[in-house]
Amino acid sequence: MYVCICKGITDQDIRDAVDNGLETFKVLKEELAVSSQCGSCVSHAKQILNEQLAATATYYKVA
Ligand code: FES
Repeated sequence: MYVCICKGITDQDIRDAVDNGLETFKVLKEELAVSSQCGSCVSHAKQILNEQLAATATYYKVA
């Protein structure tokens, strides 16, 4: 599904970026140019980013 129509970025593009180590919206915007034109996709792009970060989170056990 397209998240950013202006730049042709899909939810899978964002999920793949997170799987490859991307962690912040700032970097997402720099690397994929998502939300860099009209900006109407910002909230949806952040939602996908946060969902994927949660799905791939690494938890450390603190003694
Ligand atoms: S829809 Fe993403 S910048 Fe316009």
